[in-house]
Amino acid sequence: MKVPYLKLADGREIPQVGLGLWRVKDETEFKISFDTGLAAGYTHFDSAQAYENEQFLGKCWVDADLKREDIWLTTKVRTEIIAVGKTAWSVPRSLARLQTDYVDLLLLHFPVSIARKKAWKELEKIKADGGAKSIGVSNYTVKHLEEMKLYATEMPVVNQVELHVFLQQPELLEYCRENNIAVEAYSPLAHGKKMDDPTIIAIAQKHHKSYAQIMLRWCIEKGLVVLPKSITPERIQQNINIFDFELDAEDMNRLAQLDQSLRTCWDPTRVP
Ligand SMILES: NC(=O)c1ccc[n+]([C@@H]2O[C@H](COP(=O)([O-])OP(=O)(O)OC[C@H]3O[C@@H](n4cnc5c(N)ncnc54)[C@H](OP(=O)(O)O)[C@@H]3O)[C@@H](O)[C@H]2O)c1
Repeated sequence: MKVPYLKLADGREIPQVGLGLWRVKDETEFKISFDTGLAAGYTHFDSAQAYENEQFLGKCWVDADLKREDIWLTTKVRTEIIAVGKTAWSVPRSLARLQTDYVDLLLLHFPVSIARKKAWKELEKIKADGGAKSIGVSNYTVKHLEEMKLYATEMPVVNQVELHVFLQQPELLEYCRENNIAVEAYSPLAHGKKMDDPTIIAIAQKHHKSYAQIMLRWCIEKGLVVLPKSITPERIQQNINIFDFELDAEDMNRLAQLDQSLRTCWDPTRVP
């Protein structure tokens, strides 16, 4: 399946679907997921220092005999690393584990109070030195992004946040659109915690698609980058197979009703 690209504010183009890699910690399981994903058309892989699998990703892409420019690698600086002011120290170590001299996208994993300003300045320098092609943030609210305007030389081109039909975050989406920040939807399947909604079941039947494919296609209709995770080969294939149908206005109206501010991951809204 050929995946479309979205243009970022820095001019680079990001594949709109990426394979989520959180909790893929077993090396054999990781290799099966990576190889299945690659064969299915994934070229974008979403890792993080905290996932403790950067070394598997490095080995997999090198073993697959790919050209570096043919894949998109994202990693994130771990919250604890940001907190102790060791962002710049940590990134060369990530690059070594990933067996590359640059990542496509480097994110601050969380808006760590006090430490986030220094960490962002370090990301800007890492980008200037060539260690990251694009830089961004994760779990930032409008408040955290607005604050960045006071200290950032360059604004993030991506904000990776929890986003799915049950947590639609319309204000954050509107803000990011206005400020040319691409939004990556993490946990787009609500972490698999709500796979029985009757509206989604009905829409899936109408389009002869799976429940998960409707949730993921909703993200595509919203113009998001979407990062589904699976270690199950059939699901990995299914989750990228979302570009041969569209949700119509009636489907989107029905799905809009499902927003219930359901957070399945951390809640950054109260982080000062
Ligand atoms: N920046 C952050 O703070 C942050 C936080 C959370 C996540 N993320 C990123 O976003 C990615 C995705 O989020 P997530 O891992 O929380 O959850 P998710 O993608 O919303 O859901 C994953 C769960 O859904 C199941 N699943 C996957 N495809 C399915 C399908 N087609 N049908 C039925 N069930 C399916 C998976 O099971 P199996 O694996 O058993 O198939 C797994 O239990 C992460 O891996 C990570 O890369 C980032």
